[in-house]
Amino acid sequence: MPGVLIVYYSLSGKTRAAAETLRISMGADIVEIRDGRRRRGLRGVLRSVLESLTGAVPEIESDGHHPLAYKLVVLATPVWAARPASPMCAYIERHRAILPEVAFLCTYGGVGAAATLARLEELVGKAPVTTLSLSDKDRKSGEYRDAIGRFARRLRGAAKDAAPTGAGGNIQAFFADRRR
Ligand SMILES: Cc1cc2nc3c(=O)[nH]c(=O)nc-3n(C[C@H](O)[C@H](O)[C@H](O)COP(=O)(O)O)c2cc1C
Repeated sequence: MPGVLIVYYSLSGKTRAAAETLRISMGADIVEIRDGRRRRGLRGVLRSVLESLTGAVPEIESDGHHPLAYKLVVLATPVWAARPASPMCAYIERHRAILPEVAFLCTYGGVGAAATLARLEELVGKAPVTTLSLSDKDRKSGEYRDAIGRFARRLRGAAKDAAPTGAGGNIQAFFADRRR
């Protein structure tokens, strides 16, 4: 569906799989956030947890589609220590001023989804049009695809009602964003 951009970060592939399923179901554009930090092994996991807890943000790359060109951006992240993954926090920090309507998707083991969604709302500075949390248990059950299908329907409705693209034509914010 034109007008919807999915932006995701994924360390071990689960959020990527959910974001891809959503992309196929909606015909939306998609962008992956990448960071170069080592996150494997005990040290990598500890670093990731520490970043989440302290709010430290890593350097990231996210080539391709720009949120300014969309009516609705879906931010998809794994839960790290009951918070959004730090590369997603870095993306929000960089694009906050120009994000149009937002929706949130998180994948998680079993705890911390509600706190993560609340933190995403705090970071973005506005309420999402809709949210979806997918636990490991949901992923293993047949409910997973249905839940993504229902999420996609809510997104389509929200995108239809949303203002035209361009984050309200906030050109100043666009150029401030480009200077970073
Ligand atoms: C650093 C780190 C911290 C995590 N913290 C949590 C947590 O607080 N609660 C939880 O349910 N799962 C936690 N997990 C599990 C991930 O949220 C879960 O496996 C997620 O689906 C992984 O997504 P990904 O494959 O896209 O990286 C954590 C994983 C990592 C690597």
